[in-house]
This record gives sequence, structure tokens and C-alpha cells, in this order.
Amino acid sequence: MRFDVLTLFPDMFPGYLGQSLLKLAIQKGLVNVNLHNIRDWATDKHKSVDDRPFGGGPGMVLKVGPVVECVEAVQGESEKQETTSTGGRGRLIMLTPQGRRLDQPLVEELATEERLTLLCGRYEGFDERVRDILEPDEISVGDYVLNGGEVAAMVLIDTVIRLIPGVLGDEQSSQQDSFSANRRHLLEFSQYTRPREFRGHEVPEVLLSGDHEQIEAWREQESIRRTKRRRADLLGPQDPS
Ligand code: 6GU
Repeated sequence: MRFDVLTLFPDMFPGYLGQSLLKLAIQKGLVNVNLHNIRDWATDKHKSVDDRPFGGGPGMVLKVGPVVECVEAVQGESEKQETTSTGGRGRLIMLTPQGRRLDQPLVEELATEERLTLLCGRYEGFDERVRDILEPDEISVGDYVLNGGEVAAMVLIDTVIRLIPGVLGDEQSSQQDSFSANRRHLLEFSQYTRPREFRGHEVPEVLLSGDHEQIEAWREQESIRRTKRRRADLLGPQDPS
């Protein structure tokens, strides 16, 4: 799967891309992330990418020209290079707090794409004509304000790549995640590893029993108990009795 990230701060990404699962996925050729600096498409001598809003008000607005031209150049690349098997431009996603909220069903939908172009916002937002011209999908990662779309883009990449076959060592483990299609309604159960006892805290006996049926049943119960306590909203409207 190919990601193109369009940002004013490409240096925010290599640390994240160079570690753990994502590093391995890139090494295995399962994921390809290309970083593009929107400033490279600025046309004036100061390389400006933002300007004061018409009508006044605080903050700066990302200019339409550099953003649109950067997106067009990056999406146009696929016609020259055979970067995806279909050679398509894929889906354009703008990361803004006004977007559709990212949740696991949306992550699952995005994971079916061969290519995603992620446009990261900053400052007070984009000139509205970026939306008129490019008609991106808009995604937010939650109801709070980040300083920019970069961290949100990392969240999106992180959630999507774990669903790409071969990225996780154990094929099953993403299916067991809380919120995945199979377990959308339940949180994870408690996990333990050695030692069996630490400062008087013991591992539940059932997990040491070797009885896989009992272990499964205990885990299911744990998930339900935890979900009821912490996220009853995930269980849907409950009978008040
Ligand atoms: Cl995608 N961007 C910003 N700036 N803030 C956010 C967000 C995105 N998602 C949640 N908050």
C-alpha cells in the first residue's frame, strides 16, 4: 500500500516511520510512505505557504496555490511510475478537525485502498478553494484540537497498516483487537506474562490451568465486564432493568 503525505513538516515523520511494525512493513515492501513538503510548491521568493485571512481575524490560512499544485503533482506521479498495480491516484484525504471521525470501520474501509494521499493542515486551516477544487475526503481523529494534521496522519497510517496482510507477525491478532469487525462491541481482556507472582499480585489461576475452553470463557467474561465498566456506550442501548 502506498501513502503520500503532504505536509509543511515532513521531518516529523521519519522517527515514527523508522520504528517497530512500520519499519518492518516498509522493509518487507508491504508499505511505502512518500513525504512531500508543500513548501516546495510555493511560487514566491519567500516560499510562503500561508497568508492572512480575507475579512480579518487571527491566524494564518494555507494558500490554495501551493496545496493544490502539490496534490496534483503527487497524484499525477502515478501515471508515470507504476507505483500501484492499478496505477490509480487512490483516495485523497484531508486531515482536519472538521472531518468524519476515524473509527475502526473507517480504518477497515481505508485498508482496502491501494493508495492514500494524506494532506495535513496547519494554522487556521485551508483556503476553502482547496476543498472546492480537490474534493477530498475529510477525516478527524477525535474531538479535540491538534496543532496540525501530522499526528493525525500518523494515527491513520498506524491504524491502517496493521490490517494489511503480512504486517502483523500473527495474522490473527488484529482480528482480536477491540473494535475490529469481529469484536466491535468489546474491549480487550486482561493479559499476563511471567512472573506468576509479583509483589503479592498473582496471575489468575484459570490462565495457568491449560484448559483452553475455560480460558476462552474467562477471557470473554473479562471483556464483557471491562466493557460494561469502562465503555458501556459500546454495548449499545441497554435495558434499564
Ligand atoms: Cl485531523 N487535525 C487537527 N488539527 N486537529 C485534529 C484532527 C486533525 N483530528 C482531531 N483533531
